[in-house]
Amino acid sequence: MSTKAIVLAAGKGTRMKSDLAKVLHRAAGRTLLDWCLAMLDPLALDGVVVVVGHQADEVEAGLPVGVGATVQEPQLGTADAARVGLEALEEGDDGTVLVLPGDMPLLEASTFERLLAAHRDAGAAATVLTALVADPTGYGRVVRSGGDVVAIVEHRDADDEQLSINEVNTSVYAFDLGRLRDALSRVRADNSQSEYYLTDVIGLLAADGERVTAVVLADAVEASGVNSHAQLAAVGAVLRRRINERWLAEGVWMLDPGRVYLDVSVALGTGARIYPDVYLEGATTVGAGAEVGPSVHARDTVIAAGAKVRYAVLDSAAVGVDATVGPFSYLRPGADLGERAKAGAYVEIKNSTVGAGSKVPHLSYIGDATIGEGSNLGAGTVTVNYDGYAKHRTTIGDRVRIGSDTMLIAPVTVGDDAYTGAGSVISRDVAPGALAIERSPQKEVPGYAERRKDRAQEGGT
Ligand code: UD1
Ligand code: CA
Repeated sequence: MSTKAIVLAAGKGTRMKSDLAKVLHRAAGRTLLDWCLAMLDPLALDGVVVVVGHQADEVEAGLPVGVGATVQEPQLGTADAARVGLEALEEGDDGTVLVLPGDMPLLEASTFERLLAAHRDAGAAATVLTALVADPTGYGRVVRSGGDVVAIVEHRDADDEQLSINEVNTSVYAFDLGRLRDALSRVRADNSQSEYYLTDVIGLLAADGERVTAVVLADAVEASGVNSHAQLAAVGAVLRRRINERWLAEGVWMLDPGRVYLDVSVALGTGARIYPDVYLEGATTVGAGAEVGPSVHARDTVIAAGAKVRYAVLDSAAVGVDATVGPFSYLRPGADLGERAKAGAYVEIKNSTVGAGSKVPHLSYIGDATIGEGSNLGAGTVTVNYDGYAKHRTTIGDRVRIGSDTMLIAPVTVGDDAYTGAGSVISRDVAPGALAIERSPQKEVPGYAERRKDRAQEGGT
């Protein structure tokens, strides 16, 4: 018997006040829809279809391989959406189908497993995932009789007695596929919103004498949906906490986990040390024993074992084993620091390799450069890589000493073991072992201060 899933994601999400489809909003590195699909992944379902409508093209474009999409247009309600989803699944009435909304990112795979097991064990036509909540306002109420479910009544359509029920519909269901198909054909839009309610299927099946059971969530927070930015932030906090708890269990140290913001796609090595206000995004990895933070924002960056990165912004960069970055450094795409290399205070590096043990300690801009091993770039060194039309490369060898405030006018090469004098504008290649110095000779004017003072006293300037 097959098990498939229909994910409902056609709704507009008006309360997000956003041009972006609601399910494409992101939390902890994934869209809301991707969170839902990721939770279904471990179930190895026989088919998953997402019902799209509002911003259908954008939502469909982001779907992982193996997940289908089908368009619901116009959006006539959740029963209509389920019907459209069923049509897209392969023919046949056998098996079980899960129906869930695409905006509930906190659901866990184990919950779906529990729902399916209960559904199977009860031989039910439908099993509803429910939650017990303190404030059921806005939710569909679960009406039971003799333990089983007999109806779900929407808040707007509920009478006083039903309104006092605090067991609510999460909008997650397991259905016998054939029973669902049959019941959907009988749903009418005779309610306060003139919509086709999927919840009406429950009452129809119960009236048929079919068994409808419920699984109650152990923790109602799993049923948190996202309809607003406030709710998006709230589920984001839960997802982040789950991610951080996982890394803490893996032996990562965090001074204050509440102030560590990790995308789900980030990987941390054992013994990594994460200080507060650290944002690690995309394909960022942190090696064993590395120290990151305080105050680091890194995206798609590799921070190798033993490296230390403090007060820095890194974008598509690589920091080698035992290298140090910061405070106040900016590593842009293609910045690649070798083992024990250093990017220090007020240093910006882009599309450049800094070899093992080489240092760029203070106040420098390094762009489109290749720096060998064991070299030192004095404070204020700048690679002048852009002539207003094109970018040019600077090549610096091994064990080079670049004097402070050197301007390296690219394209230019400084050979191994060479020196440049402080304050030089280097526009021609420097041979290995040579000193290149480009400055006017220093002039000295003796007694200047005395004469200057006299002039001022005489009423001059
Ligand atoms: C629904 C349930 C309610 C439950 C609540 C939980 C119905 C009638 N009510 O109400 O019992 O307590 O969820 O959050 O089902 N959608 C479509 N096409 C449509 C309409 C909706 O794809 O035509 C999608 C939405 O994008 C959303 C999901 O279905 O992901 C739920 O729709 P929504 O309008 O938010 O239902 P609620 O009013 O919240
Ligand atoms: Ca909803």
